Amino acid sequence: MAETFFITTAIDYTNGAPHIGHAYEKVLADVLARYHRLKGEPVFFLTGVDQHGQKVQQSAEKQGVAPQEFVDGLTAKFLALWDKLDVRYERWAATTAPVHKDCVRRILQRLMDEGQLYKAKRAGYYSVRQEQFLTDKERGEDGQFGPEWGEVVFLEEENYLFRLAEHRDWLLNLLDRRPELVTPDFRRAELRNAVEKLSGDLTISRPKSRLAWGIEFPFDPEFVTYVWFDALVNYISFAPGYDPAPGADLSEFHRWWPATHLIGKDILIPAHGVYWPIMLKALGFRDEEIPPLVVHGWWNIAGAKMSKSLGNIVDPDQLATRYGAEALRYYLMSDIATGRDADFSEERLVQRFNADLANSLGNLLNRSLNMALKYRNGVLRQPVQPELLALTAQAVDFPGIIAQYQSKFGEFNVHAALETALSIAVLCNQFIDTHKPWSVAKQPELADRLDAILYHLADSLRILAILLSPVLPKAARGMYEQLGLTDPFRMEDARWGLLPDGHTVQTPVPLFPRIEKADPQTDAAH
Ligand code: ME8
Ligand code: MG
Repeated sequence: MAETFFITTAIDYTNGAPHIGHAYEKVLADVLARYHRLKGEPVFFLTGVDQHGQKVQQSAEKQGVAPQEFVDGLTAKFLALWDKLDVRYERWAATTAPVHKDCVRRILQRLMDEGQLYKAKRAGYYSVRQEQFLTDKERGEDGQFGPEWGEVVFLEEENYLFRLAEHRDWLLNLLDRRPELVTPDFRRAELRNAVEKLSGDLTISRPKSRLAWGIEFPFDPEFVTYVWFDALVNYISFAPGYDPAPGADLSEFHRWWPATHLIGKDILIPAHGVYWPIMLKALGFRDEEIPPLVVHGWWNIAGAKMSKSLGNIVDPDQLATRYGAEALRYYLMSDIATGRDADFSEERLVQRFNADLANSLGNLLNRSLNMALKYRNGVLRQPVQPELLALTAQAVDFPGIIAQYQSKFGEFNVHAALETALSIAVLCNQFIDTHKPWSVAKQPELADRLDAILYHLADSLRILAILLSPVLPKAARGMYEQLGLTDPFRMEDARWGLLPDGHTVQTPVPLFPRIEKADPQTDAAH
């Protein structure tokens, strides 16, 4: 059976509007999904929203609306943004959906039946902002809980706990045996250190008296599910064919699972790196079924963390309106190395678009097609003479470039794959400057040479369109149209020489008109 690709993202809190970090992660997942579709693999891309929890309950209260109404309003914003940014997923995971709530309840029942949960009275400090109990590990040097925990209250309550600690050695061992479970390497090292320090079990319930906005326990209506336990389950509750019943037929599920989980650096420890693999282990998942984590870095603003309190939140919707979805996608994919942080800058967005797309690629497309139309009415002749084939083969090392592109994608290094693809445009522009088709056109005895040059440029643009299609789906389609081709894009077509002899190209229409940074004055007026 064909190899499949299952990718998920973090599900975003519906406690505020989507920001640039959310957009980055979703576009990155979308690009990876599109790359695997390009290779002809069946792809399942799952993304969605995390709608329960105390923070949401508090925000809804403040606005005087019911929590469901509150999250529905924000969910609509996320949905509209993904649509606007061309993020194309197979399934939407919203944690208030009945299918999800049902799955969480059945999982809780199973874990209870199998002795993985127990009820206990606990007294301790609790961070309302992070919705979790704190231990001495969370205290700073001064013995206090730092500002990142927000309001900290002392609570004494009875709750359900999930047996986490007893799986510590299993997890350590697994991380050592399967280093590919966490990308990049330095994050695996961080996780390993955290797992070594793992002691206590995980409180996975909240008394309804203080939190009503959650999934009710199936065997105890006085409690709702801790939001992280609830949210993590989305990766299987919305997966094709999962069923938590012991002994259920999971053949469809196993066709897809394990999913590659794309997450930000802040939610590796403890949620995705500790709780989640242990939850899966407790549900009977085998070691080979523990999913790999691809941990991306954060976009900062002038070196500082983006935050509501600093008032420096970057709105992706506004950027897409100003510059277009493709410009934003290109910036988010080209100006950060996966796993590292980067500084967001609107100047950089404009600069990169103008330099790489408007100038290098846009000019190449424009002048290549214009020359084909001017000298040959758009009709291409495929070169056959060895010396002409050698001329074009020397210009761009396609096999090398394609291998590099695929290897960079395999490492999730989209920025490097993009750069590799765009090196074709750089090489083709050099090729034009070297071979000066306009002077070749003046020499009738060099007619074959001119044909070879024009063919080479058009066929290179065809391959460029294929390679750029995961990041720039609209522009790639535009390039194909102007080249007189129709999608679908297929990776296997990314090799030189597939344009048939006699193929006709179309009139160029500028695909990447230069953009200018919006004026903050006019902006304020909006
Ligand atoms: O953590 N740059 O949701 P969330 C890049 N609901 N990525 C960023 C970022 C930034 N400045 N800020 C946040 C949650 N992110 C939970 C997840 S999964 C079962 C539940 C990333 O809305 C962040 O790292 O706070 C995370 O991967 C995602 O946005 C959602 O963050
Ligand atoms: Mg977060």
